[in-house]
This record gives sequence, C-alpha cells and structure tokens, in this order.
Amino acid sequence: MKVGHFAIAIDGPAASGKSTLARELAQRLGLVMVNSGAMYRAVTWQVMQAGVDPENPAAVAEALEHMVLDCGVDGLDSTLTINGVDPGEALRSSEVNAHVSQVSAVPEVRRKLVELQRSYLDHSDVVMEGRDIGTAVFPETPYKIYVDADPAVRQERRCAAGEVDSVSDRDRRDSQRQTDPLRVADGARVLDNSGHTVESAVEEALVILREQGLEI
Ligand code: DC
Repeated sequence: MKVGHFAIAIDGPAASGKSTLARELAQRLGLVMVNSGAMYRAVTWQVMQAGVDPENPAAVAEALEHMVLDCGVDGLDSTLTINGVDPGEALRSSEVNAHVSQVSAVPEVRRKLVELQRSYLDHSDVVMEGRDIGTAVFPETPYKIYVDADPAVRQERRCAAGEVDSVSDRDRRDSQRQTDPLRVADGARVLDNSGHTVESAVEEALVILREQGLEI
C-alpha cells in the first residue's frame, strides 16, 4: 500500500457541473471519484423509507443509528449501499431533492459521513466533490477548486435533465446551515463554469491544480 494518499476537493452549489468535472478529472488522472452528495442522498432516502420525518433533526439522528452505510471502490468508481441496498436512481428522485438539505444539516449525519469520506484516503487517492470537502473533510489538502455557475444556468441544467429540483432553495439551505455550510474554502480557486464546455472546464481545472502544486 502506498502511504500518504491525497485528495482533490471539488466543491460548489447544486448543478454547477462539479460532478461532471470531478468525474473527468478522476478519469484523466487515474484517481477514484467520490460523490459525497450521493451519501447524503442515501441517508435521506433511507430516512424516508423508514417513514421518519426528514424535518425532525432528533428523529433523523435516531434513525441514523440504525443505518449501515457501506462505501467502497470499484475500479475508479466509488460504490455505496445503505442497509445492504444500492438505491440507484432513487437517489435523484424529487422527494430526495426536496429533503436532502434538511437531512444533511443534521450534525450527527455530517459527523458520520465526514468520517466515511475521510476513510477513502486509507487506500486511495481521490477526487471528491461536495459542499464542504475543502473546508471540513480535507481542509489540509492544497488541491481545492470551487466550481460556480450562474444560477439561471444551473436551474436550466436541472430542468433539462428532467429533474424536479429547486436549486435556489437547496443552495440557500446548504449555505445557511450551522454545520459546515457551503462556502469557498481557504486556499480554493473559483472556477466559473457558466460558459465552459466540459473539455474547457477540465483544462482550466488542470491549470489550477498544477498551480496548486499537483505534479501532473
Ligand atoms: O451534490 P448533490 O447536489 O448531489 O448534493 C445533495 C445535497 O447533499 C446537497 O444539497 C447538500 C448535501 N451535501 C452536503 O451537505 N455536503 C456535501 N459534501 C455534499 C452534499
């Protein structure tokens, strides 16, 4: 096992294009890609499966005690099951979109998922995307990019993908919560993705990462 694994942190608001960018970077650099939002979505899905009120933080924290999250790696992809089930496309349902910000604001949920996210570095170098990767999960990594895009462009992306998702409501909740809100991390460089193609965004990200000292 190689010691001293590293993380590239990609943060940003909903539908900024950070997942696509993170996936492409992971492919180019041969790193494992981890979508931390999928973990928050899986907990939200399970909360709803269990009939627990996602707006009740104490009930969510209680329900979390009965959840077994298994996060692994398959090639360069990360895998996820919750209580032995891969929720698949259900993670992107309108119900999960509507409640994931409330569930992910619960401190016990964040504590558990941040621990799981950090454990990836026990065995892999990763590109991890989310909201607090550069601020809370891996604050010490020098490789940090904050992906932003015009709010209208972001909402349009979600609608074009056929998803029911109020991006502005989620952004407001994700930025205003008490624990590890969405913000630009110290040392992060902002990449405005509004006018980029996937290819040009990847090129800009690679320039930023080289400037941050990544040897590629
Ligand atoms: O990246 P996404 O849109 O799939 O994330 C879904 C929600 O999960 C997002 O609205 C807030 C939460 N989230 C979080 O709180 N912290 C992260 N690192 C990633 C996602």
